[in-house]
Amino acid sequence: MKTSLYATLAMLALAVPAAAQDGDAEKGQKEFNKCKACHMVQAPDGTDIVKGGKTGPNLYGIVGAHPAAQEGFKYGEGILELAEMKPDMVWDEEQLIAYMTDPGAYLKDQTGDAKAKTKMTFKLNKNQADVAAFLAEHSPEAGDEG
Ligand code: HEC
Repeated sequence: MKTSLYATLAMLALAVPAAAQDGDAEKGQKEFNKCKACHMVQAPDGTDIVKGGKTGPNLYGIVGAHPAAQEGFKYGEGILELAEMKPDMVWDEEQLIAYMTDPGAYLKDQTGDAKAKTKMTFKLNKNQADVAAFLAEHSPEAGDEG
């Protein structure tokens, strides 16, 4: 009897962290190497979490931020259209996963505009949830949604 009880407890202990979060932020940080050619993650006080390029906007605090809201970045028309159509929308992990999987398709889908274009010429086809978890970790506004 004792062994089976311990086995059950051990299984529960293993199951909890897996259920608590979908993505692995640590793996996501490595995966973010694919993004950093174009994106930095830099806190408002200038602390570099990831040093990166300027082709795309700084992704610090992206979870909980409105789309196309980084000051000083020149966004394309497609994502600006999305921001205008959905002024209340903020990025959550689920939407980021969809976006990074295929930014062009995401914008077409969200705006209903078959001609919507993205300036992000990159698609991530695996470990998207890990990257989203990593970005959420560096998003003070992420709050407790989900
Ligand atoms: C080749 C350069 C490039 C790469 C690589 C790239 N991006 Fe982007 N990203 C961009 C550009 C440019 C934009 C602005 C899109 C627009 O204006 O249409 C953007 C926009 C974004 C946005 C929207 C930001 C906002 O302010 O609303 C997110 C989120 C994002 N990228 C995430 C990622 C992630 C995560 C990766 C890695 C998996 C990645 N990007 C890889 C260039 C890139």
